[in-house]
Amino acid sequence: MFRIFQLGLCVLGLIGLAFSQTGCSSSSTQESTEQIVPHAIIINQVMDHHSYSRPEEARVTHLEWDAHVDFDSRTITATATYTVEAAEDAERILFDTHDLTVASVTVDGKDATFNLGAAREFLGQPLSIDLTGTAKEVAITYTCSPGADALLWVEGDEEHQPFLFTQSQAILARTWLPCQDSPGIRYTYNAQVQVPSGLMALMSAENPTEKSADGRYSFSMKQAIPSYLMALAVGDVEFRGVGEHTGVYAISDLIEASAYEFSELDALLHAAENLYGPYAWERYDLLVLPPAFPFGGMENPRLTFVTPTIIAGDRSLVSLVAHELAHSWSGNLVTNSTWDDFWLNEGFTVYFEQRIMEDVYGRDISEMLVTLSYQGLVDEVDAIMDVNPDDTHLKLHLQGRNPDDGMTAIAYDKGYFFLRLLEETVGRNTFDAFLRGYFEAHAFKVMDTDGFIEYLNAHLLTDERQRTAVNLDAWIFGAGLPANCPEVKSRRIEGVDAVLIGWSQGLMPTEQLPWESWLYQERYRFLSNLPDDTSADRMAELDIKWGIGSTGNNEVLFAWLEQSIRSQYQPAYPRMRQFLIEVGRRKFLTPLYKALKETGQLDLAREIYAAARPGYHAVATGTMDDLLGPPE
Ligand code: BES
Ligand code: ZN
Repeated sequence: MFRIFQLGLCVLGLIGLAFSQTGCSSSSTQESTEQIVPHAIIINQVMDHHSYSRPEEARVTHLEWDAHVDFDSRTITATATYTVEAAEDAERILFDTHDLTVASVTVDGKDATFNLGAAREFLGQPLSIDLTGTAKEVAITYTCSPGADALLWVEGDEEHQPFLFTQSQAILARTWLPCQDSPGIRYTYNAQVQVPSGLMALMSAENPTEKSADGRYSFSMKQAIPSYLMALAVGDVEFRGVGEHTGVYAISDLIEASAYEFSELDALLHAAENLYGPYAWERYDLLVLPPAFPFGGMENPRLTFVTPTIIAGDRSLVSLVAHELAHSWSGNLVTNSTWDDFWLNEGFTVYFEQRIMEDVYGRDISEMLVTLSYQGLVDEVDAIMDVNPDDTHLKLHLQGRNPDDGMTAIAYDKGYFFLRLLEETVGRNTFDAFLRGYFEAHAFKVMDTDGFIEYLNAHLLTDERQRTAVNLDAWIFGAGLPANCPEVKSRRIEGVDAVLIGWSQGLMPTEQLPWESWLYQERYRFLSNLPDDTSADRMAELDIKWGIGSTGNNEVLFAWLEQSIRSQYQPAYPRMRQFLIEVGRRKFLTPLYKALKETGQLDLAREIYAAARPGYHAVATGTMDDLLGPPE
C-alpha cells in the first residue's frame, strides 16, 4: 500500500532517438513514416498519446503467436500473425514496436511493403504495413533485442535454472511483440512457444500444469485482452492446485511455502464474486517470480505475477493478491482508455481490494491498511505538489512523458478515497449495486474519465445535493486532497502511535514494547514513523531485544532498513546490502537508495547499485539511474 513517488522527471535517455530503420524485406520501401506521431489514435473519441496505432484505419482482432525463446542470445524470435479489420479505404495498418528487428511481413500470405519510422523516446517506432480494405491477415516475423525493456532474463546458478519473465504494462509489450499497444484495442490470442526443454512456459492464457518433454507449449486466450496484459514467463516451475479454480506456480524451493501462503485464494475469489459479479476468466492462478520482479504484483489475466517478497510465512501480505485479483474486474474487464485514465484501473482496484480484505479478514484489518495508505498518500501529495501539482489530479496529462510517471499514490489512493467518498455519500448498498452494474455494462470495454463521470451522474449521483457534496471537479480535475476526503480511524494504529511517542521520549522501556503481539501493519507503523534522528544506540536496543533485523516479513524489514540507514545503524548494513542486491522491487529500492543519498552515503549507494544493477529489471534501473546516475 505504500507507493513511492516515481521521480516524475524520468529524464530523457535520448538513446537512439533519431534513427529510422527501414524494413529489410525486398519489397520494403523508403517511404517515410516520420510524420506518424502518436497523437491521433482515437479510442471511443479519446486520444491515446502513447500509441502509434490508428484502429479507426485498421485494427487487430486476433493473434497467432509462434515464438522461439533463446536464453543464450537473450532473444525471442517470433512470427505474429494478426487477424485484422480494415476500413474500406484503408491503405495501411500501424503497429507499435520498440527495439524490434523486423525480418519480413506478409499480408494475406504475400510479401508486403512495410516501413519502420523514426524512434521516439519511450514510444519506439511505428511499423506501417501497406494493405487494402480487403486484407484479412498480417504476419510479422521479427526478433526482439537482448535488452528489450519488458524482459528480464535471470541467470541460473548451480542450483537454479535460468528464468525469463515479461512486464508489459504500461507500454513495454511493444519491446517483445509488434502490437497495437493501446489499452482500448483488445484481441484474443493463441500461442505456440518453444523453450529449452526442462523449463515450463506460462502466459496470460490457459496454461499447462506439467512440463512438456520437448519444451513446446500451446496457449489459448479466448477472452479479448489489451496488449499490456500480454505476459510470458519461462522457468523451472511447478504447479500446485489450491482450490477448484485456483493454484500457484513457483520454483520447487518455494512451492510449499507458496501453497501455504496463498491457500486462501478461493476465499478471496468468492468474496470478490459476491461483491461485484462473476469472475470472467475461468481460472485464477499465481506465478511466484524471482525477487528481481520490479513490482509487487501484475494482474496478467488468469495468471497474476507476484514478487516472492510477499511470502512471509504467515499469510500477512495477501492484500496484494486481493489487489491483483480485483483487477480481474477493474482493469482487465473494464479497462482504462489511456494511461491518463489510470486511476480508473488502480483507484477502483484499491477500493475493491479493501472490500475483499474487509469481507475475508474483518474491518479492523482493512481500516488499518487504509490508515497506513492514507499516511502514504498525504506524504506523496506533499512531495508531488512541490514538483508538479497537476500530477495530483486523478485525470492525468502524460502526453510526451513516460506513462510510468503516473504510477503514484494519486491514482491508487486518492482514487480509493474518492470511491470511498461516493460510498459514504450514497450508502454501501446503493454503491455496490452501482459498481456491479458498472462492471456488467462495460465488460470487455474501455472507460475514460469523462465517460465515467457521465455514467456516474446518470446512474448514481442523480441527486443535485449529492453532486454538490461530492464535488467531482475538485477530486478529478483539482490538485491535492479535497477537504471532504473521508476520515479513517484505526484503533490499533492509534495504539501504536501512543506507544511510539512513549518509546521515543524515553518513557516506555524497549522491553515493554508490545512488539510480539503486534501485527505486521502495527510493526510497520512503528518503524516507519520512528523519528529520523533516532540514534544508532536506540536502534541497537530494538534489534537486540526484538530481533527486528532478522524478521521474515519484508515490509517490516524494509521499514527497519530504511530507518537503519537514516540512523546509520551499521549492524544492519550487511542485510541492507544483501536485500538491495537480491530484491528488485522498486517500491523498496527507491526509498532505500534515497535514504542513503539524503544522509551523505551516496558513494555507498552507488557502490551497491553498481553490483545490483545487472540483476534489476529496466523498470527499476530507469528510476534508480535517475536517482543515482547510471554507473560508469
Ligand atoms: N498494474 C499494477 C502494476 C503496474 C502499474 C505496472 C503500472 C506497470 C505500470 C499492479 O496491479 C499494482 O498496482 N501493483 C502494486 C501492488 C498493489 C498492492 C498496489 C505494486 O506492484 O506495487
Ligand atoms: Zn494495481
